Amino acid sequence: MRIDRDKFGTLPDGRVIDLITLRNRAGITLRVITFGGIIVSLSTPDRAGDFDDIVLGFDTLAGYLGESPYFGAIIGRVGNRIANGRFVLDAVEYHLATNNGPNHLHGGIRGFDKVVWEARTFERDDAAGVVLTYTSPDGEEGYPGRLDAAVTYTLNDRGELVVDYSATTDAPTVVNLTQHSYFNLGHAGSDVLAHELTIDADAIVAVDATLIPTGALMPVQGTPFDFRVATPIGARIDADHPQLQLAGGYDHTYVLGAQTRTPRRAAFVRAPSSGRTLEVETTEPGVQLYTGNFLDGSIRGEGGVAYPHRGGFCLETQHFPDAPNQPAFPSIVLRPGDRYESRTIFRFDATSD
Ligand code: GLA
Repeated sequence: MRIDRDKFGTLPDGRVIDLITLRNRAGITLRVITFGGIIVSLSTPDRAGDFDDIVLGFDTLAGYLGESPYFGAIIGRVGNRIANGRFVLDAVEYHLATNNGPNHLHGGIRGFDKVVWEARTFERDDAAGVVLTYTSPDGEEGYPGRLDAAVTYTLNDRGELVVDYSATTDAPTVVNLTQHSYFNLGHAGSDVLAHELTIDADAIVAVDATLIPTGALMPVQGTPFDFRVATPIGARIDADHPQLQLAGGYDHTYVLGAQTRTPRRAAFVRAPSSGRTLEVETTEPGVQLYTGNFLDGSIRGEGGVAYPHRGGFCLETQHFPDAPNQPAFPSIVLRPGDRYESRTIFRFDATSD
């Protein structure tokens, strides 16, 4: 029995939110809810074989309805920022919510992290999964066109969580979906600064004071952004670098290259305290490294644990921020008849040292 389905909670409007539990042969357990497609927990073994939850989250639906900083959620229609909440597509100007200073962030006031998804589970010989679907009506959060979106989480016996995204539309629109899990491969309640991180990228998308791309791709060579060789996340996080100061740490898109048909490695993380490792592969052109700079100990998550400053890290695979206003960036425009498709693989393991 690899799959369970239970009730997680009830929304104020009476809709019931389900909890889907997926297990692999090794005992890795993924728990997902139909609200926001949120991964509420992910339990993996450390070097001694002891299981622990490696994502930040809440015990109850109330936590996610409160001030959750996108813990574990699907982000859409457009992840990351759109400058001043406006863009032009086919000579029509569209206006979106400005929910992050002057800018639009993570799909708006009620993005895909706050909607109820339909869930259909499936089981294979070597895997269990859930297909989440949501139809975003034309004009929702200001975006044009109806968008039929599907996100599939597959947990297989190779220790991989495969996330497949797809979407179609009935009118030209923009789409850039991602997954906003905060990982802590060590111990929840501690920071992730000792985690050793590798990112296979030569450049980042440089940003301005409101974290909107300047248009420049900044080479990482010789900067605190260079993670081409495994380096502790905290080794240079407070360095005197303007890009770090603007974001209060790492909150930047790393440039992986052109979109690919099959996933290639983007990042690798290892927690020396537990031996746990996480490898991220993706078809996307970028990955946003966010080091929980806005966490400050005020949010209490599972078991009442306070999540400290930099108590988790996110590796959000995606197209670049503000793509609709940056003609040189890979396009996120989706047209009727075309299909948006994207795959990211999170691979979990532990080293003996
Ligand atoms: C993304 C953004 C960050 C922040 C987090 C959630 O990573 O880039 O600035 O909004 O989401 O707090």
